[in-house]
This record gives sequence, structure tokens and C-alpha cells, in this order.
Amino acid sequence: MSGNAGSLVANEFSPAGARALPDALLRLKPEVGLVLGSGLGSFVENIDVEEEIPFGDIPGVPVSGVEGHAGRFVIGQIAGVRVAVAQGRVHLYEGYSAAEVAAGVRVLAAMGVKRLVLTNAAGALHPDFRPGVWMQIVDHLNLQGVSPLSGGPRFVDMTEVYSKRWRQDLAEAAAEASVPLCEGVYAAVLGPQYETPAEVRMLGSLGADAVGMSTVSEAIQARALGLEVAGFSCLTNYGAGLRRGEPLSHEEVVEVGTRAAGQLVQLWTAALGRDGISK
Ligand code: HPA
Repeated sequence: MSGNAGSLVANEFSPAGARALPDALLRLKPEVGLVLGSGLGSFVENIDVEEEIPFGDIPGVPVSGVEGHAGRFVIGQIAGVRVAVAQGRVHLYEGYSAAEVAAGVRVLAAMGVKRLVLTNAAGALHPDFRPGVWMQIVDHLNLQGVSPLSGGPRFVDMTEVYSKRWRQDLAEAAAEASVPLCEGVYAAVLGPQYETPAEVRMLGSLGADAVGMSTVSEAIQARALGLEVAGFSCLTNYGAGLRRGEPLSHEEVVEVGTRAAGQLVQLWTAALGRDGISK
């Protein structure tokens, strides 16, 4: 139990909230927030950093123990647009509640971010999708059995979690930057174990194109706060059993993610440099 049930309508990190953020985080007013998944941390090397705060310095923000998830907020500029990056995240499979998993999104919203990009590493399920390629998330299946809104706001609309308008802009930016980008549905499972081949077949028949263990709690929280959301899955491996006899490894997931981070930088530099992308 996270202890903040019922407090999600009013963001506890907002200026009037119980855990108002330090001025250092509120002064810079970033426009776009980004949450980086496994192996994608190197993205921040391409930011002109203005402020950097470890998650552990903000009471109420949990710190991950997972390798590849150094936890800090980095505020800075890419292509002249001020962004706030949550480098690393915590997961339900570490034992955190969905509300705790989504705490970083509430911090970003309290900083003033209006648009949020969520990234993750995911297994490819769609027969045409290959590891090393980015998938833009068009919708999700929340198969984690929990919501960050439990005890908080009810019946938040989820018809368009991932902004269609923004998605089209981003797809155009990807094409301009020559970054291969497919589109699909992301299924979130609890983990921490990878799927069985039978589960992979089930997820495919449910309409999922990729599977991972994160992102949906943050996306749901962001929509409840009125943020516009985009989601990107770095396809790091084939879903279990889709390539006969090949076991999955976290090291491979981090390695493929690290290599693909460069393309995310190209895509984001192109996207943020486009007129109106940050508005
Ligand atoms: N399954 C679940 N989560 C993942 C995978 C996967 O195959 N790859 C990266 N994260």
C-alpha cells in the first residue's frame, strides 16, 4: 500500500501538494517530459543539461534496483526545446504499487510538463516486427491487474491514451530522420519473469504487437492528469518461443536498447525541431 490512496486527484507534488517540489525543479518549466526505459539512459548524453536531481532526493519518488535504470531527473534542452527526462523508472515487479510506479509522472506534471513521452524495451510479437526497431504505441492492453488510479479518480476516459495528432507528427519526424518506425499495440504484463511461449501466443491472439512490463501505469496516470502522451517501444527481442530454442536474456535487452537509443535521439531531435511540435 503506497499510503497515498485518494490523493491522486490533487497531485501531491504540485505546488499546493503535501510534497511540493524544490524550487530547483520548478524554476525551469520544461515543456516535454520523457521517461526512459531499459538501456535507453544514454539518451541524456545528447541533452544540454541544466539541472540534475537523483530520484532519491525527492521524498515520495521510489528508486529502482534494476540494472540499466539509474534513477534521476535531468532537465535540459534538445533542439532548443526544454525537456525533463526521468532516467530510469521503477516497476511493479520490484514490489512497488502502481501509484508509486507513476510517481515520476506526477513529478513531471508538477514541473509543468504538458506532453509526455514514455519509452520502454519490449519483446516483438507481431510476425513482421524485428528486434532493433522502434514501435510507436497506438494503444495498450493493461494486463497487470492494477491501476495507479485505485482509490483516486474514477472512470477516466482511455479512448485515446496515445495522442493521435502527436503520433502522426512523430511518424512524420521519424520518416524525415530516416528512423524505421512501426506502430502497434503494447501489452503490459506484471513480470518479473519473461513470458512462456503459450503466453506469447495468447498475447498475439489478444491483439498485442509487443509485450513489456512497464509504461501503462504511467500512461494511465498521465491521462488522468490531462497530459498528452506518446509511447515508444524499443523491440529488443522476439517474444519467447517465436525463435525456436533461443532463451531471452536481460543483458541482450539492455544491449539492443543501448544500440537503439541513438535512433531515439535522431527521432527526438527531428521531432522537437519541427515547428509546433512542443506546443
Ligand atoms: N517480454 C516482456 N518484457 C520485455 C521483453 C519481453 O520479451 N523484452 C523486453 N522487455
